[in-house]
Amino acid sequence: MALSFFSKTPPSIRTRCRDDSATKLRLRYAPYYHAPEWQDGTRIRLGGRDMIMLASNDYLGLSFHPKTIEAARAALHQWGTSTTGARVSNGSRSYHVALEEKLAAFLGKEACQVHSAGYLSCLSALAAFAQKGDIIVADKNIHSCMWDGARLSTATLERFAHNNPEDLRTVAAALPADAPKMLAVEGVYSMEGHIARLPELLATAAEHKMFTVLDDAHGFGVLGCQGRGTADHFGVANQIDIICGSMSKSLGSVGGFVAGDRELIEYLRTHGKHTIFSAALPPAQAAAASAALDIIQNEPEHLARLQENTRRYRQILVGLGFDTWGSETPAIPVVIGDKQKAYAFWQALMEKGVFTVMSIAPAVPPGKDLIRTAISAGHTDAQLEQIADAFAYAKKKAL
Ligand SMILES: Cc1ncc(COP(=O)(O)O)c(C=O)c1O
Repeated sequence: MALSFFSKTPPSIRTRCRDDSATKLRLRYAPYYHAPEWQDGTRIRLGGRDMIMLASNDYLGLSFHPKTIEAARAALHQWGTSTTGARVSNGSRSYHVALEEKLAAFLGKEACQVHSAGYLSCLSALAAFAQKGDIIVADKNIHSCMWDGARLSTATLERFAHNNPEDLRTVAAALPADAPKMLAVEGVYSMEGHIARLPELLATAAEHKMFTVLDDAHGFGVLGCQGRGTADHFGVANQIDIICGSMSKSLGSVGGFVAGDRELIEYLRTHGKHTIFSAALPPAQAAAASAALDIIQNEPEHLARLQENTRRYRQILVGLGFDTWGSETPAIPVVIGDKQKAYAFWQALMEKGVFTVMSIAPAVPPGKDLIRTAISAGHTDAQLEQIADAFAYAKKKAL
């Protein structure tokens, strides 16, 4: 043990916060936490300037659909603003049960549990089912919520190369045969826009009897029949134990879900701390998600428009010679590959009225500094033209 007079006193928590270089850098360059003062779908106003939102996850444009707004408004009047409690005690309402049944049926699962955030759902999909002695085998690019869930589970964690079934096979072959195992992957990786190679990944999972968890936050509403997601896209929903996701993307609401066999969801309700101890999904959010789920099934034009906009937007970017990291979905990164240039590029887009999000290392691998963009069914032809002009301008100005 080091003698106490040699050990340096660590800075206090307050000092650490005050001196944090990442926070100082963020405040100095101010690329994040912008707060528009007005919004109508894909149009926002920021600092008095009208801009196009090109970084939201409102893939189908349903957050401003008249039916979702009306459903949320009616729910507020019927149920008030909050559940003020957890599902296990005073927070359950009949609208939760109805939404869960609807989501389960849509996903081809027996049962479902909703939470107030997608983060809680996807975290608990790992934390509640895995435990000490288990091995979680995860794609190295999974979202922060699944990493948190893995850590909380206290299971052993093994990673495999991003979306690489060959590496999964190698990693799995080296694991002890008798330990219970869980595979944790996403359906669509939102930073890269990649679709998981599910059939090959699941083949290895089956070989090693892995419990399988799919976070389909960005595949839901976008892929598969009527937007049933990545598992449906490949026809493998019955090979996946748990499908979790978010209602803050294609469903235009907030909240998350965990879907699976009834016995799994009942186990989650008994053991999932985030299910047991967190206040239940509020009425307006549940109603908006439920209305969006009806719209997805009854108004196919939104998904068709999203697919068409994705095709045209990708064509614009590729035409301008940008590296889109092989994105196959509406989440399309523009890889710049250098921090300073990415910042200048992002600024140039802002100057031209296009709101995007810059993502730089260590949030992305070194050399992959990028501008994260996502196209929506809500973008108009005129907006696509403005977006094309803005990217051409930013290329000239910043690269
Ligand atoms: C892959 C993935 N999973 C889960 C979440 C969490 O969802 P929410 O933002 O609804 O809490 C996100 C959000 O960005 C996500 O991208």
